Amino acid sequence: MSEPKKLFIKTYGCQMNVYDSERMAEALGGQGYVETKSPDDADMILLNTCHIREKAAEKVYSELGRFKGLKAEKPDLKIGVAGCVAQAEGEEIMRRQPLVDLVVGPQSYHRLPEMEAKTRGGEKALDTDFPEEDKFEKLKSRPKAKRGPTAFLTVQEGCDKFCAFCVVPYTRGAEVSRPADRIIREAQDLVERGVREITLLGQNVNAYHGAGPDGDMTLAALIWELNKVDGLERIRFTTSHPNDMDDALIEAHGTCDKLMPYLHLPVQSGSDRVLKRMNRSHTAESYLRLIERIREARPDILMSGDFIVGFPEETDEDFQATLDLVEEVKYGYAYSFKYSTRPGTPAAERPQVEAEVADERLQRLQAMITRHQREIQDAMVGQTVSVLFEKPGRQPGQMVGKSEYLHAVHVSDTDVEAGDLRKVKITASGANSLGGALI
Ligand code: SAH
Ligand code: SF4
Ligand code: F3S
Repeated sequence: MSEPKKLFIKTYGCQMNVYDSERMAEALGGQGYVETKSPDDADMILLNTCHIREKAAEKVYSELGRFKGLKAEKPDLKIGVAGCVAQAEGEEIMRRQPLVDLVVGPQSYHRLPEMEAKTRGGEKALDTDFPEEDKFEKLKSRPKAKRGPTAFLTVQEGCDKFCAFCVVPYTRGAEVSRPADRIIREAQDLVERGVREITLLGQNVNAYHGAGPDGDMTLAALIWELNKVDGLERIRFTTSHPNDMDDALIEAHGTCDKLMPYLHLPVQSGSDRVLKRMNRSHTAESYLRLIERIREARPDILMSGDFIVGFPEETDEDFQATLDLVEEVKYGYAYSFKYSTRPGTPAAERPQVEAEVADERLQRLQAMITRHQREIQDAMVGQTVSVLFEKPGRQPGQMVGKSEYLHAVHVSDTDVEAGDLRKVKITASGANSLGGALI
């Protein structure tokens, strides 16, 4: 038998890219590839790129440039670009960087095996279509390889919301949901392979409306179906849009035992003026009332969010409204970004906020978020949580896992193994994790 070829994939951006990279590795597994951790011994290098921030494409070009030496030593090395930069730049990538053999957009990954074969024949391969067929159905994993205790599962892709700052509707295309039966089957397969926690993914996951046995299903209905999967212990989902949080989903947070008390619900800004210009179609007030209802259903839920500071024309007053909102919600986690222009999006044409002003706002917001995060984490000390253990920690004898609230928790000197779900009493709160003892 010939030596397996080696595949090196580098993944940028969101969790959906992480999921896609796994699917691509599996698809190329069928072509005789095994994954390697280093580009140096690879026969194929794939960059799975993200286009969310400015200069993302430039970074990809400079990363590609670094493979020049490798390709000179090894002319058979194939270099590919996947993900959202591939979708946005297309053929331009091959024009600017002749080293590149293959460019594949996120909706065409199921065509990767044919494309790889084409590059082996010495041709270039490009595909940035938005085909009709369900790529994941064609990307089904063949080998029943063992998996870790947690996994992502994409249920919905694309976005029709067109927030004024965002490239996702352009790079991922229109919103599409996968049929429920395929998702359930994939979940069952993951569980058979050792997975105990599944995070359902979608750019607008709570807008899910995939075909079910009696018409379209909501995300809440899908979660209730997954709740019946034996051996699956935990369900999460991300990322949600405030406008798509329906009553059934809110209620599920209070009643569905496998649904974890954690919700990522980006608001982006606390100023109605800014929200309007962002085309978010919700207000700060409607968002706060929504959180109130979610907390009524599940009082201990840990909230997480995304913020953009320095959006075009954002004033000090607008920014103060964001701080006020954050102070009111108190996020357990929150991700904040300085606005960065994305050519082709409406906000790119608007008057920009000075960089220093945006920097200073970002620092202030992050300081507040960190303070809340810390307070919420510290308040866990003395509480009992359930931990799904994932891997050994840094110290010998230590194991780490995640609590239901997604806090990292480590315990020492135990016989727990990856995949064990155990009750832990929290005894310490550190910089980025909690320490505890098994009960
Ligand atoms: N679909 C999700 C996430 C989209 S991208 C949602 O609707 O929230 C993830 C985050 O990146 C966004 O929530 C936003 O905070 C940030 N982001 C997107 N475009 C950006 C831009 N042009 N500049 C800065 N941050 C941006
Ligand atoms: Fe981007 Fe807005 Fe769609 Fe989220 S909802 S992916 S921020 S356009
Ligand atoms: Fe980035 Fe595309 Fe995800 S732009 S955040 S990789 S959807």
